[in-house]
Amino acid sequence: MSRIIFLVALGVLTFLLSQSSSVSIANGDMKTKNTDMEIYYNTTSSAGSLASTVMKKIEEELEQAMINCNETYRIEMSYIEALNESGSFPDETDKTPKCYVRCVLESTGVASEDGKYDPAKTAEVFAGERGGRPMDDIQEIAAGCADRQETCKCERAYNYMKCLMETEIRRYQ
Ligand SMILES: *[C@@H]1O[C@H](CO)[C@@H](O)[C@H](O)[C@H]1NC(C)=O
Ligand SMILES: *[C@@H]1O[C@H](CO)[C@@H](O)[C@H](O)[C@H]1NC(C)=O
Ligand SMILES: *[C@@H]1O[C@H](CO)[C@@H](O)[C@H](O)[C@H]1NC(C)=O
Repeated sequence: MSRIIFLVALGVLTFLLSQSSSVSIANGDMKTKNTDMEIYYNTTSSAGSLASTVMKKIEEELEQAMINCNETYRIEMSYIEALNESGSFPDETDKTPKCYVRCVLESTGVASEDGKYDPAKTAEVFAGERGGRPMDDIQEIAAGCADRQETCKCERAYNYMKCLMETEIRRYQ
């Protein structure tokens, strides 16, 4: 009887040992995979870091434009958030925040001084994600918004952004 219990106990022990060793093998595999990824990442990182340097530069350009334009055309952060989240400003009769948009678009090269919009540049400057998905069609959306009738440059810039944001929101949320 005691011999049977011993055998059962041995069986359980062996089972446990084999389980734990397979867990540690699995861990080893994971480590190996990480290393593979690191090597893969490192061999591709020169192209990757060039791309991320360019992206950082564009991001900084946008940030700098936002700071500079806010000096001339004061805008509340809540207005920018509203434009981003709902597609429009809470008060559309106020002209100053619309001129802020014009200023940012011209400073980043999205708009030319004569009110022409560059869809490719728009896609670069306003790259990002919505609803957890990276937006890959901003250029196409921008092209659909670029042909504008407004004669006032501030109105025109605001409505360009409004068109862009509204379309993004419709497609991604
Ligand atoms: C990959 O590069 C990083 C940073 O340069 C370095 O810390 C890491 O050890 C490298 N990994 C491999 C596997 O070469
Ligand atoms: C613009 O400047 C004002 C005053 O400094 C500040 O309250 C506001 O948050 C700034 N707007 C943005 C979008 O940074
Ligand atoms: C604009 O909205 C997107 C999606 O909700 C968000 O990821 C991003 O941080 C917002 N940007 C600003 C400036 O509020």
